[in-house]
Amino acid sequence: MIRTYFNDRAGVWDETVSEKNGTKLELMAGRLNIAAGSTLLDVGTGTGVFIPFLQERLGAGGRIIGLDFAGEMLRVARRKGFEGDVDFLCADVACIPVEDGTFDSIVCYSSFPHFQDKLAAFIEMKRVLRDGGRLFICHTSSRHHINGIHQRIPVVCDDIIPEEDEMLRLLARAGFTDIEIEDNRESYFCSAVRPDSEQFEGLGFEFEADVKSLYRVSQGAH
Ligand SMILES: C[S@@+](CC[C@H](N)C(=O)[O-])C[C@H]1O[C@@H](n2cnc3c(N)ncnc32)[C@H](O)[C@@H]1O
Repeated sequence: MIRTYFNDRAGVWDETVSEKNGTKLELMAGRLNIAAGSTLLDVGTGTGVFIPFLQERLGAGGRIIGLDFAGEMLRVARRKGFEGDVDFLCADVACIPVEDGTFDSIVCYSSFPHFQDKLAAFIEMKRVLRDGGRLFICHTSSRHHINGIHQRIPVVCDDIIPEEDEMLRLLARAGFTDIEIEDNRESYFCSAVRPDSEQFEGLGFEFEADVKSLYRVSQGAH
């Protein structure tokens, strides 16, 4: 159903729905702690709206894989003919057809609320991140604003950014550390790190017990 919703909008996505404010997108890309020349997975890439801004950060030696389960969105993205090392994968975030530890970072720009099984998505994204790799979930509006828009559209009315406690719980359960969430009028930004494998094995399930003490969370007004 969600996939059909996006496939049906692919042809008009860039004109009618996607973020038009290039400055906002540029600022958001600048907040991502991504190294020049690294390998990045853009999950829910859609028509590839964020790709040029990611490319600026990654530089000529960087590599981007844009993943989306809506083939029509990817068809539009491919037609844009991005220069440089950009490829696309048509797949569900809960089952990413690449080897463990492939990516230095993963970005979910304006896509995370739509993942139907958020814990499965986190677990799978952690699998394909390298040790020490970073996950970023970001939007160019506040959580409150995004959730409000979705709640007015029947097909996506349940696709929300969870409350802070739930985000922390899900990310910790999937095994992420160093979680930071910042939610304000201008943007929603969450980052988390895949710890070194050995460190993670040692933590086991105790990790979930004292979840709150492990995070630095900042929250502004909506
Ligand atoms: C709101 S659109 C955002 C697209 C693009 N990032 C942008 O900002 O224009 C969300 C995208 O996430 C994709 N998506 C939703 N759930 C997904 C899933 N489970 N696996 C892969 N892609 C998914 C949709 O097909 C859609 O293209």
